[in-house]
Amino acid sequence: MRRRVGLLISGRGSNMMSLIAAAKDPSFPAEIGLVLSNRHDAPGLGRASEAGIPTAIVDHRAHGDRAAFDAAMEALLVGEGIEIVCLAGFMRILSDGFVSRWEGRMLNIHPSLLPLFKGLHPHRQALRAGVRVHGCTVHFVVPELDSGPIVAQAAVPVLAGDDEDSLAARVLEAEHVLYPDGLSLVATGRARLIDGRTVFSA
Ligand code: GAR
Repeated sequence: MRRRVGLLISGRGSNMMSLIAAAKDPSFPAEIGLVLSNRHDAPGLGRASEAGIPTAIVDHRAHGDRAAFDAAMEALLVGEGIEIVCLAGFMRILSDGFVSRWEGRMLNIHPSLLPLFKGLHPHRQALRAGVRVHGCTVHFVVPELDSGPIVAQAAVPVLAGDDEDSLAARVLEAEHVLYPDGLSLVATGRARLIDGRTVFSA
């Protein structure tokens, strides 16, 4: 059985496209049932529609508070029979209630080797710290930002002469491979969130 996945985006949606592309393979353990954006102008919405994926917009400015915004998203996700949510460049903080309803069933990708460089500008943070290895992380979402149990990571080198853009581009290439792998682990039950830790099985 393929698990039904909803993708939450705010921007260009390149990770979204990597998940849509992976799910085109019938042997991939998940299908993308819905792409949901909090922004009307997210370029990813058009790319999802072109790929034949249903899209919806829940404008955070049109909802009185975070709980109302999250309830509107919840209704759409449940209405589409979504079982797993993947945040793919989704730039809103979710309410604790929403996060706990999707506990163990919601993933995020962050462009650093967590727990290093949480929050904004992770590539800038990496360059400032002088690390020689950087990367990306797929993790279960918990209420604390960029802090959930890790499902998968990929490392890339930091090269002499790198700036934020060149480093971000190298990490993004790794993200596009890592996110489908991480989703596959969770969709097949080979990575599960148990008692606040990721438990892996064959
Ligand atoms: C990606 O690099 C993703 O890891 C990052 O935003 C970018 C979205 O690009 N997410 C975060 O920083 C979340 N904390 P995309 O829209 O092309 O996938």
